[in-house]
Amino acid sequence: MDILQFEKQYLRLPSAIDEIHDELFDQKGIRVFVKRDDLIHPIISGNKWRKLREYIQIAQFNGYKHLISFGGAYSNHLYALAFAAKELGLASTGIIRGDELTSQSNLYLSQMESWGMNLKFISRTNYQKKLIPKEIDTTNSMIIAEGGYGKMAIKGVSYITKEINQGNFEHIICPIGTGTTYLGLCESTNNIEVHGILTLNNLKEIESNALEVGIPIQRIYDAYIFGKYAKQPEELVNFCQLFEQKHQIKIEPIYTGRMFYGLYDLIRKDKFKPESNILALHTGGLKS
Ligand SMILES: Cc1ncc(COP(=O)(O)O)c(C=O)c1O
Repeated sequence: MDILQFEKQYLRLPSAIDEIHDELFDQKGIRVFVKRDDLIHPIISGNKWRKLREYIQIAQFNGYKHLISFGGAYSNHLYALAFAAKELGLASTGIIRGDELTSQSNLYLSQMESWGMNLKFISRTNYQKKLIPKEIDTTNSMIIAEGGYGKMAIKGVSYITKEINQGNFEHIICPIGTGTTYLGLCESTNNIEVHGILTLNNLKEIESNALEVGIPIQRIYDAYIFGKYAKQPEELVNFCQLFEQKHQIKIEPIYTGRMFYGLYDLIRKDKFKPESNILALHTGGLKS
């Protein structure tokens, strides 16, 4: 199946934009909207499809039959890749950090294997070097960096921008992991200020990636990392629960929870002028 047909048949695109309401927003005279990329698909949700799209299109165009990528044991990126490859008739290999793991170490890994992904567990040292084990056949294969990071993924993010009427928003905000989504928004938007909430201590890496791809970065905040990647303090978990109760939108603490927590804090601290319209990108991350 080609990619356009796949998008038409299986994905909810363009994703919806929903306004959320809160006394705080009313007090500050601003409006907040959520771009519901979490609803694109139950598995290839959020920024995952945006980041994979161009890779898959190019793989299909060039007749590649195999997608290879890297990730941790809970990688949203590999999870989406495994499913997309299966649906599009491509083979896939996930190179996983940690040679102590097996496909039975968690439900996601066993699910990925059942979708046909070849899982290869490597030591943390080799993972850092991003070495592809010799036994993996790389002929006719497309190799995608960890988390999907790369120019093609940055280009894929520009489809989000095409789906929004840029004149309606002064600000757009997203969480930052590899920075792909953030850089894609910085590159493709005009006259919208792009805000990124770091989810781990990697500002230097994001800055150097931005230089490498020649995209000027805008506002990045490091105040909402909560110590380190994936740490889930009670305050953040409670925030996610309250957010869901109030807005009927599920978020998770690692990415979107940190982003919305940061957004509320920035609003409270008057970082946005009254009458601002802010678009928050829901990047998914809720594996089903
Ligand atoms: C749900 C979710 N949101 C946001 C991000 C961060 O996106 P990026 O890596 O493009 O910065 C990720 C990680 O890839 C993610 O899984």
